Amino acid sequence: MGSPQSVVVRPTRHVRGPVRPPGDKSISHRYALFAALAEGTSTLHGFSTGADCRSTLSCLSGLGVAVDIVGRDAAGLQVRIGGRGLRGFQRPDNALDAGNSGSTMRMLAGVLAAQPFVTRIGGDDSLSRRPMRRIIVPLERMGARIASTDGRPPLTIEGTAHLRPIAFQTDVPSAQVKSSVLLAGLHADGETRVTETVQTRDHTERGLRSFGVNVHRDGLTVSIQGGQRPHAADLSVPGDISSAAFWMVAAAALPGSEVAVSDVGLNPTRTAILDVLRRMGAEIAVDGATTDAEPIGHIVVRHGNLRAVEIAPEEVPGVIDELPVLAALATHGGALRVTGAGELRVKESDRIKDLAEGLRRMGARIDELPDGFHVHGDRRLRGGEVDALNDHRLAMAFAIAALGATDSTTIHDAGAAAVSYPEFFTVLESLRA
Ligand code: S3P
Repeated sequence: MGSPQSVVVRPTRHVRGPVRPPGDKSISHRYALFAALAEGTSTLHGFSTGADCRSTLSCLSGLGVAVDIVGRDAAGLQVRIGGRGLRGFQRPDNALDAGNSGSTMRMLAGVLAAQPFVTRIGGDDSLSRRPMRRIIVPLERMGARIASTDGRPPLTIEGTAHLRPIAFQTDVPSAQVKSSVLLAGLHADGETRVTETVQTRDHTERGLRSFGVNVHRDGLTVSIQGGQRPHAADLSVPGDISSAAFWMVAAAALPGSEVAVSDVGLNPTRTAILDVLRRMGAEIAVDGATTDAEPIGHIVVRHGNLRAVEIAPEEVPGVIDELPVLAALATHGGALRVTGAGELRVKESDRIKDLAEGLRRMGARIDELPDGFHVHGDRRLRGGEVDALNDHRLAMAFAIAALGATDSTTIHDAGAAAVSYPEFFTVLESLRA
């Protein structure tokens, strides 16, 4: 291994062992936000150790919320949050910093739209390039005023205590946009409805219910009645299936591998990765046990001969975060063609161009499509030198591709993995041992 920023990944024959993935990033953000809006003190277990969720906690501190990290165990952080109730946030002294986290900025904006003060919220270079009109448009329709740099951060949000409820149709499938509008709707005077074209992850709907808020779903429409007061809760965050995906793919890719993932979230809006892995040839066993808020269980993945697979546009929202590592899987054999994934271009990096560039530098044959990519797994990678460009999922996807190469790969900016999975390179060493 190299420095935290540049890491050398050696090829490996197989990966084996147990893994407990870090607390789910999407769910950690949401539980922290809902706890901050609740009346009473909430305790969250297995909270994500990633930098993104720390950004959410530090923004909440900036708004006067008492946040204490009281412990840490194999599942993650234990966080205690003193809720301030629906309208209890304080005007921050300084601009809030969302770091690299689009989820923090977009979902928190829904709450800031309802505060009777002005908040500035910015982030790092990557976040400063990401599109925010998708939340600015509905939140302004509800009565907030939001200034931006041509639709990009930093945002200056002038909230109002008198938000209007709206019926909103999302034009890009985005759980962050849905959540932002629902959180503003929680503060509005009446019923807010969000209709999606394709169902996206439903952690906000489930999470709000765990904090005592009624959220109604009818097909692709979710509605919330404003003014409901969330109550504090004591909740465990399941392991992150999007982080587990790196090990599931490594096991699927390398003959003789077997990885057992424990305590991982099995929310049906997040498990499409398992269908794709099966189609590509992996052997997968799932042992699920449902908890009240989010389904959770264990997954065992073994290698199988890799096949050529297509992911259709309607499947994309269900595997959006796993597409880089699925591309890495196809460099080990089989093939993968993805279309309808133009959203990848506005993630932490351009996850079509930058992914293709990195994999090509390692020797892959990959066609870049306007809204996707086609990886031809017909040649063994040689390894090389790649740049993760401040994108955590690219850093980790390149590492999984590198395992099957003939020579080592140097990944620059590999420290970006800490955004969602600070323990990634340590776990990699334990699984290859
Ligand atoms: C997320 C939703 C997705 C996903 C992101 C987390 C969430 O983003 O890519 O990593 O927690 O709601 P979009 O809402 O932009 O699709």
